[in-house]
Amino acid sequence: MNENLKFLQAFLKNPLKVGAVAPSSPELAAEMLQGIQPDDNNIVLELGVGTGAITKYLQDIIPSRSSYLGIELDAELVRTINSRFSDMNIVVGSAADAYSIHKESGLGKVSYLICCLPFVSLPKEVSDCVLAEIVRFMDEGCTLRIFQYAHGYYLPPAIKLREFMRNRYGRSTRSPLVLKNLPPAFTLTWSTS
Ligand SMILES: C[S@@+](CC[C@H](N)C(=O)[O-])C[C@H]1O[C@@H](n2cnc3c(N)ncnc32)[C@H](O)[C@@H]1O
Repeated sequence: MNENLKFLQAFLKNPLKVGAVAPSSPELAAEMLQGIQPDDNNIVLELGVGTGAITKYLQDIIPSRSSYLGIELDAELVRTINSRFSDMNIVVGSAADAYSIHKESGLGKVSYLICCLPFVSLPKEVSDCVLAEIVRFMDEGCTLRIFQYAHGYYLPPAIKLREFMRNRYGRSTRSPLVLKNLPPAFTLTWSTS
């Protein structure tokens, strides 16, 4: 099935968890992957793989299978993307368990956290658990990159997330608005490495 249709189907099944009607565009993927240089000791952890809109570009920059781990909640999506990206480590699981999933994988240190989760629409208890996991990676030295849609940028959960991160790690580096994305989005980056 076409990637856009598959994504829309996932959205219709669970709008709050998917949080977008279309996969990220190549332009947003490029912004999300700016400056990311993984290797087996400095891996990329992608949270919320979806239909693999960013993963397909990650495939081009990871030197080997063991430089990447993806976590996606929707088992049906993972079945599809695993057949499409058979050389990528993508597992079914929750980002709220990301730290233990990574430990169990036996892969190298997470130096890049590419987070595609829809914090604006996730239940607060889930967001809080995911943030606690992100802090564990950040405390070990990591670059976190997220995207936030322009239309949701000033909604309370989006502001709260930025405040939480700013209080802990300082101001983010924000990209220009990526207009060629449905909907337009900014990327935000914090680094402790
Ligand atoms: C906005 S979509 C982004 C998908 C893709 N990375 C992209 O950029 O097109 C968010 C994805 O996060 C997944 N997701 C939501 N909650 C999650 C959680 N707690 N753990 C892992 N994945 C989650 C959804 O199923 C969905 O595939």
